[in-house]
Amino acid sequence: MSEKTDTSLIKSGDIFVKAAHGEGSSGVSPVSQSTLLQLAIDLADSLSAQDRFNRLLTAVRSSVPCDAVVLLQRMGHELKPLAQKGLGADALGRRFEIRSHPRFEAICRSETPVLFEFGCDLPDPYDGMLQGFSGDLPVHACMGLPLQSDGQLIGVLTLDSMTPDAFEHIPSQTLEVMAAMAAASLKTAMLLQHLEADSVHTRNVIHELTQEALIKDGGELIGDSAVMQKLKQELALVAPSDFAILIEGETGVGKELVARTLHGLSQRAKEPLVYVNCAAIPEHLVESELFGHIKGAFTGAERNREGKFSLADGGTLFLDEIGELPLAAQSKLLRALQNQEIQPVGQDRVSNVNVRVLAATNRVLQHEVERNRFRADLYHRLSVYPIRVPPP
Ligand SMILES: Nc1ncnc2c1ncn2[C@@H]1O[C@H](COP(=O)(O)OP(=O)(O)OP(=O)(O)O)[C@@H](O)[C@H]1O
Ligand SMILES: [Mg+2]
Repeated sequence: MSEKTDTSLIKSGDIFVKAAHGEGSSGVSPVSQSTLLQLAIDLADSLSAQDRFNRLLTAVRSSVPCDAVVLLQRMGHELKPLAQKGLGADALGRRFEIRSHPRFEAICRSETPVLFEFGCDLPDPYDGMLQGFSGDLPVHACMGLPLQSDGQLIGVLTLDSMTPDAFEHIPSQTLEVMAAMAAASLKTAMLLQHLEADSVHTRNVIHELTQEALIKDGGELIGDSAVMQKLKQELALVAPSDFAILIEGETGVGKELVARTLHGLSQRAKEPLVYVNCAAIPEHLVESELFGHIKGAFTGAERNREGKFSLADGGTLFLDEIGELPLAAQSKLLRALQNQEIQPVGQDRVSNVNVRVLAATNRVLQHEVERNRFRADLYHRLSVYPIRVPPP
């Protein structure tokens, strides 16, 4: 056979099928640049995977006239239709075991488009499913494109036409473009599916850990004294707001428990509660700990790191021992509180965050302000709703 042959016979087990690589001698013309451009724009524009698949199939049908076109995803030993045009509505609910369908098996085994011989008597997986036809399909043209990504078969695109020679002489460029576009759409959808599942899983883990942290040590403020009842009322009152809250009290009176209670009673209860002990961070690392840093920002910053503010996005940040925060970090914290924006160390732009801050200290912060150890403006910002936890 010469190199210009439209199709060649390949032996696939006992099945004779043709590997289609036509040069466009007749019938179907090569995909035009404008069709390609429109398809690329459509695919990029699509919001959902289903919409992207439908646009893809519409573009395929406009390039190669056919009665049915189906995009299937490979899931282990099965093929699952993701989108179709021309089959009955129930086609999308089907699963095809590859080895039970010789046509699918041939396509999956091939690395190039497969054109089934006219009159090929292999059973058709779509028998009884083509719209407008009942029972087994009459003699028709049938072609399958294996869709690959990184050398792996990820899916199949099939085309069926009632016109027996419909797929003879399809330009190889058309087939290549269709296979590439379909594989790219499928790969993007699979990637998004994976990322979405990953993100849902991560949120569930966060939720679980947050709930666990909230009920740690019983999780409830114990005590029925008048002061304790007053404290509980205060907490119930201020918890739902988004204001920063300063929790003051002597060592061991339950300030951390108060912070957890506030978070648990707030609208952010399902979101993370992130804890920072300001007394435990070396001074030169405070800024990076709170706001994060980018790779190379300082010696030892080997990769980007998210700060606690960003981790608490949507939830609550509990700054314990805030009285120990160095003055330089205090001014950055004030800015974060005022503007709800943070600037990771080494990054020139700011990022927006939505964080509610709770702060606790066993110092009397007002005294720290008087001694110039705590910024007055930050103190005022934090003490809109000061809560004093009384000793038991
Ligand atoms: N009213 C309370 N009800 C139940 N448990 C309490 C109460 N007060 C304190 N505790 C318990 O006492 C221990 C210390 O509480 P917590 O860590 O919240 O104190 P703190 O004020 O943060 O202390 P520090 O200033 O040392 O950090 C915890 O195990 C906490 O559960
Ligand atoms: Mg504490």
